[in-house]
Amino acid sequence: VSAAASGARPRHGREIHLVARPEGLPREEDFAVVTVDVPELRDDELLVRNTWMSLDPSMRIRMNERVLLPGSYLPRFELHRPIGGWAVGEVLASRSADHAVGDWVFHAYGWREYAVVSPRDTKASLEPIAVDAETPARTYLGALGWTAFTAYVGLLEAAELRAGDVVFISGAAGATGSMAVQIAKLRGHTVIGSAGTAAKVAHVRATLGADAAFCYRDGPVADALAALAPEGIDVYFDNVAGEHLEAALDALRPGGRVALCGAISTYNAATPPPGPMNLFAAVAKGLTLRGFLARMYDGRREEFRAAMRGWLREGRVVFPETVFEGLEAAPRGIRAVFAGENVGKTLVHLA
Ligand SMILES: NC(=O)c1ccc[n+]([C@@H]2O[C@H](COP(=O)([O-])OP(=O)(O)OC[C@H]3O[C@@H](n4cnc5c(N)ncnc54)[C@H](OP(=O)(O)O)[C@@H]3O)[C@@H](O)[C@H]2O)c1
Repeated sequence: VSAAASGARPRHGREIHLVARPEGLPREEDFAVVTVDVPELRDDELLVRNTWMSLDPSMRIRMNERVLLPGSYLPRFELHRPIGGWAVGEVLASRSADHAVGDWVFHAYGWREYAVVSPRDTKASLEPIAVDAETPARTYLGALGWTAFTAYVGLLEAAELRAGDVVFISGAAGATGSMAVQIAKLRGHTVIGSAGTAAKVAHVRATLGADAAFCYRDGPVADALAALAPEGIDVYFDNVAGEHLEAALDALRPGGRVALCGAISTYNAATPPPGPMNLFAAVAKGLTLRGFLARMYDGRREEFRAAMRGWLREGRVVFPETVFEGLEAAPRGIRAVFAGENVGKTLVHLA
């Protein structure tokens, strides 16, 4: 019996607050689990019992004092306030005509057991989700969620994938990277992936189907690319930045394209490291480097979901997950994402 069906209305819930701004890798002491009252609902509001939460590298950027882009993407998490993040859950109580008790929703108020969400709150990104035996709620944080969509539009829009492109993808065993590898393979491309351990490299090749993969900790990225793509690459899907980007700029063929998706190698740095030393390669080879946020291509989300549902049904994509159990495991989980202890999409399951 679901919590909604039982009619149970919680009086208290736990949430995780940021209590100190991390320096470098977040520590467990930077977070506190706090018990709060569940408020009475006002007009238009829903009470959601979160069941799964997404852990995303960009959360680290939001823990910093400095705001990356004021008023827009990645607003800062405030101290002694709950952290947010994508979550899915079941509606326990509703004062909104659009959402009934027992409905399932996606929203932006994770890192807490119970969320009060309103369709009028644009920051909440509230969206109804269709949950069934084939499509459990957490799929909307995974294969049908933002990271998989990021892989899709990163390849098709930002990198303008063209027939015959040789594609290099960093962070290839992670949530976004593993989808990018599989989508590029489904479209018939030669794919090279990089990851941080031998086990992940084996996974990228054997399970995700990359043609070649290497461990970036084993030696210079440039050497690995030269060995695996002696004729060069056409597209680089960058999840990492730093040495990876520099090596890719050298390996790209004339007219090549880079989808600047993320820069995880820099997120814990106190001072952003200098950019690639060889940007002139972009001039000389007429390269295109395009930064993007998946939401910039929101208009393609339905098309993406239809394609992904088909691939899932036909067993043509896999979507591995790393799951942390219980709200209090979230800080440990976000550390794990930076330590590379995750494979595929990293989620927290709330009992
Ligand atoms: N543009 C957008 O709209 C958008 C949307 C979602 C995500 N992103 C970006 O996409 C990237 C991947 O995000 P995700 O959610 O899919 O996370 P993820 O890949 O599932 O997890 C992060 C992975 O990054 C790797 N990593 C950590 N530190 C690294 C370092 N210093 N150098 C190289 N690799 C490192 C680790 O794998 P290894 O063991 O292989 O090191 C780790 O598993 C991030 O940069 C994120 O910010 C962008």
